[in-house]
Amino acid sequence: MSGARLLVTGIGGAVGGGLAEVVAQRGPWSEVVGVFSGERSRDAFLATAPEAVRARIRPVVRDLADPRATAALARELAPAQRTVVVHAAANVSWTASLEAARLGNVEITRNVADLARALGVGTRLVYVSSAYTATDGWEYRNTYEATKAEAERLLRADYADLGPVVFACSLVVGHSRTGVIGRFHGIYPLLGLIERHEPPLLPGGRDRRIDIVPVDWVATELAALLERVLYEGPVGDVVAAAGPAAPRLGELVTGAVAALDRARAAVGRAPVREVTLVPFRRWEFLRRSLDAWQVRGIPMPDKALLDRLIGVYRPYFEDDRVLPPSGTTTVCPPWPEYLDASVAHWFARRAAGRTRAPARTVSG
Ligand SMILES: NC(=O)c1ccc[n+]([C@@H]2O[C@H](COP(=O)([O-])OP(=O)(O)OC[C@H]3O[C@@H](n4cnc5c(N)ncnc54)[C@H](OP(=O)(O)O)[C@@H]3O)[C@@H](O)[C@H]2O)c1
Repeated sequence: MSGARLLVTGIGGAVGGGLAEVVAQRGPWSEVVGVFSGERSRDAFLATAPEAVRARIRPVVRDLADPRATAALARELAPAQRTVVVHAAANVSWTASLEAARLGNVEITRNVADLARALGVGTRLVYVSSAYTATDGWEYRNTYEATKAEAERLLRADYADLGPVVFACSLVVGHSRTGVIGRFHGIYPLLGLIERHEPPLLPGGRDRRIDIVPVDWVATELAALLERVLYEGPVGDVVAAAGPAAPRLGELVTGAVAALDRARAAVGRAPVREVTLVPFRRWEFLRRSLDAWQVRGIPMPDKALLDRLIGVYRPYFEDDRVLPPSGTTTVCPPWPEYLDASVAHWFARRAAGRTRAPARTVSG
């Protein structure tokens, strides 16, 4: 029988991959089980994971949307004295239908909670959620926020025996030093829009804060919470967010464009065109005018693509509600220290053809 087992769902994702790197280095876990949705994602993850991660993680393939197959995992795993389940698997799309978001966020959470229960008395569940949602008094900006909150309510109401603890983070970007991250959600599709289409104008409130956090800080905080959950009794929820230190949209766009230009200069490419942020009302007027007058002098990206992306970001560019940081052991590093690395890594991956070109779907 192993001692303290950690079971991580969504280990192949942006947050799960960061956590894998931290728990590969340290922690009280006698066994770390990582759940992948399929063999392809498992193999892709293991092909690029550091040796320490490959040595530490016991990979398991399971479609967590399938309740029976998920429950069967309890019988397949060796007994452990105690298990902490960290549930990071999710459908993080901001554009999913309500049905798809419910399946990927609520039903999967129910299945994982049932699995946690079947793993034995004393099993604890840590639910990874978003600092951009809350269970009460919150107007949801999309199906993602609504269903992440619905899953949290479900855990509190029906699975109190698992002592659920919520770890909510804001928009995750790359490692603070290397920029590395497994998936490009959140601000990355916006970066893709700027790099690929160089729009001279974008709509958005310059002073709205966009709360971003580097994945290694998030993963370190999550790993620390998991240890508290293992050793201590009741443990409070954590919000891993930057709070008042987060960049304003104007600062973020200026900083990202500067970082992009540095990355482009390093491979002999010209800087991108300057981007000016305009308020949404002016933007709408300008868009209508450009169409009506068929202006050619202001080159804009494909209308359908631009409208889709702007439509997805708009709730966040107009309304910067996000939970304030709480319960972390350290404060988030300042964004000017890590934005460059994130942009440079994204740019290098893009040049190598390893990112999808802007974004049929935007997620966070
Ligand atoms: N990234 C962010 O900016 C951010 C911000 C706030 C909160 N969060 C939260 O952090 C958690 C992780 O997000 P992420 O950004 O790491 O997402 P991600 O990169 O999309 O990863 C999600 C993971 O969920 C797994 N998954 C989805 N459906 C599954 C299924 N049916 N069966 C098994 N596994 C399934 C995927 O597994 P495979 O890879 O094996 O397919 C994937 O690894 C989520 O709960 C999200 O709400 C993320």
